[in-house]
Amino acid sequence: MSDRPRLLPLLGGTRHGSRDAMTCLYRCGNACDHPVPNRSDNPYFGDLVDAEVSRRGVVRAGAVGALVLGFGGAAAGALAGAAPAAAAPATPAAPGTDPAAAAAARPGSGALTFKPIPPNKLDTLVVPNGYDHAVVIKWGDEVVPGAPAFDVRHQSAAAQSRQFGYNNDFVGVLPIDRRRALLVVNHEYTNEDLMFPGFTGQDALTVEQVRVAMAAHGMSVVELERVADTGQWRPVRRGRREYNRRVTALATKFELTGPAAGSAWVRTAADPKGRTVVGTLNNCAGGVTPWGTVLSGEENFNQYFVGGDGAPEELKPKLARYGIPTDVRYPSGSRKWDRADERFDLAKHPHEAHRFGWVVEIDPFDPESRPRKHTALGRVKHEGANVIVARSGHVVAYMGDDERFDYLYKFVSDKKFMPGNSWVARKHNLTLLESGTLYVARIEGDSPAAEIDGTGTLPADGGFGGRGRWIRLVSGNRSYVDGMTAADVLTFTRLAGDKVGATKMDRPEDVEPSLLTGKVYVALTNNTDRGKAGKAPADEANPRNANKHGQILELVEDRGDNTAETFAWSLPIVCGDPADASTWFAGYDKTKVSPISCPDNVAFDATGNLWISTDGNALGSNDGLFATAVEGPERGHLKQFLTVPLGAETCGPFIAKDNRSVFVAVQHPGEISGASVENPASTWPDGDFAKPGVVVTWRLDGGAIGS
Ligand code: FEO
Ligand code: CA
Ligand code: CA
Repeated sequence: MSDRPRLLPLLGGTRHGSRDAMTCLYRCGNACDHPVPNRSDNPYFGDLVDAEVSRRGVVRAGAVGALVLGFGGAAAGALAGAAPAAAAPATPAAPGTDPAAAAAARPGSGALTFKPIPPNKLDTLVVPNGYDHAVVIKWGDEVVPGAPAFDVRHQSAAAQSRQFGYNNDFVGVLPIDRRRALLVVNHEYTNEDLMFPGFTGQDALTVEQVRVAMAAHGMSVVELERVADTGQWRPVRRGRREYNRRVTALATKFELTGPAAGSAWVRTAADPKGRTVVGTLNNCAGGVTPWGTVLSGEENFNQYFVGGDGAPEELKPKLARYGIPTDVRYPSGSRKWDRADERFDLAKHPHEAHRFGWVVEIDPFDPESRPRKHTALGRVKHEGANVIVARSGHVVAYMGDDERFDYLYKFVSDKKFMPGNSWVARKHNLTLLESGTLYVARIEGDSPAAEIDGTGTLPADGGFGGRGRWIRLVSGNRSYVDGMTAADVLTFTRLAGDKVGATKMDRPEDVEPSLLTGKVYVALTNNTDRGKAGKAPADEANPRNANKHGQILELVEDRGDNTAETFAWSLPIVCGDPADASTWFAGYDKTKVSPISCPDNVAFDATGNLWISTDGNALGSNDGLFATAVEGPERGHLKQFLTVPLGAETCGPFIAKDNRSVFVAVQHPGEISGASVENPASTWPDGDFAKPGVVVTWRLDGGAIGS
């Protein structure tokens, strides 16, 4: 843009909880202004009858007006030595199996010795002393070779379909060899206020602009190359780039797999067999599988549909359970995508909504492959899915349903993982998520209910914890839920969870097993409705009423077997300002930990440290990325590693297998009510108007991240 932008004053806007009203509107369709969709009266406190169950420093600014402080010249010298490029393999190595990548691994001691950065409200990305960062790719950059140069004033759906999409969330980096990798990113949602100059409202957008927004949703696959011998990575900008690909809500075809594929619930006029869906929506978090594919969660898909009031009466309760209003044609803030494609009108195509809310699998190493939606993993507002191979060889996927008072799930495959990188193994492993058993969690504390008073005060036994059970919902085509077929259970999984008395949680977002220990970590973001009149009160796993800051739950499967149906759990971290008596950091000295609020995504480095990113910091500073040990004496010593610019949330995160790079997605920078392209609240990363982008952070001396 030629005009120099005027920086908005920080309005703060009308806030829903800790989130700016603009984020609420665009990201989740004002979910927190709508009634909580879970109206079930299933017990908030699990009735577990089975006897088995008893129990900083330097601020780095963007490319424009960069503020670089304190780096010694010696560090730059450390970056100079480039290693010779390794030859590309004839066939892509399955991630983690490439010997060259493994040989390059220098994971370090695992001790998190970096100096934590302080909370701040700067419109920059802030990293610790001794680290640097760079934008890898941002909204509008070329993905498909030959994509037109980005021009915010002259956007087209065709151009956006080849450019990097909006609002990057999940980040996965899959090594090809030591010097090349594939970056796979989700584009969760669009913010038309911040995308289209002169925006005055959804109704004033042209149909082509609606199609631009549809094309800005989805996923991107981008080939990266290592910069010299550093932890920095950048997109390959020459050559064929055969893997580069855009997946969009506009045009990409998906195949439905599993027991609910082809069922009456997913059949539509355009797809009478119920097998093929156009597009993916609101892809939030995800995971990299052991066989080198990427899983992506379709989350707040409900907000894209209109005409719920005109849907068949018998379907309305089911739509409502997924947050689709059934008393109005246009929900507040609706993007009105029916203007571009009438399938988003439920009055005309009531089953179309059933074709979203799934876990999507994409094989980034096969650019011609059709991505799939796996019905066997159930249909909820999927945050993401993360897989571990159990001792038995079965693969286990852990999943959260991101809504207040919704549930925690896991899937265990029927088939076993086939190790190795052969064509046969790969073909086999691509079928693992098509059949298996889906479970929902019932979680009970081990302290008397009277000791859980909703303030966060620890019970007499000194910690929040207890036991839990995975309740079977469906196994292949066999349903375990009264009155529901397997296809019913998989399509209306929330309703199945209600029926079996699953435990209502404080927004289960990312759920990820540590591949070193098999222990599972759940980010429970917040739930300001906890304990309100008529709502479930605090329980031991969700121990604070009006929970503004969230908590981390650690789940340990019995016998260390990820296929087990029973588990122990505890809350290692109850988030907030450590000066707040209701917080808990595994007993660690609270004067030494960083304040944290609203944990959203979790990841592990090569030595097993837990990394936590936040969304909606209710402590008044920018969102960020934190790290803590989860084993040993440093368990609970949580330290802030970076902060993202104003108005953004921190997504990803992803720590490279060699432990030398931390990737984060800066999602919705400058998303503050009143902001626009012309009057941005953030000018990150280029100094003009805000653009979501993926950032890589690395240590200047080339050493292991965190140490
Ligand atoms: Fe898209 Fe659950 O955050
Ligand atoms: Ca999330
Ligand atoms: Ca988020």
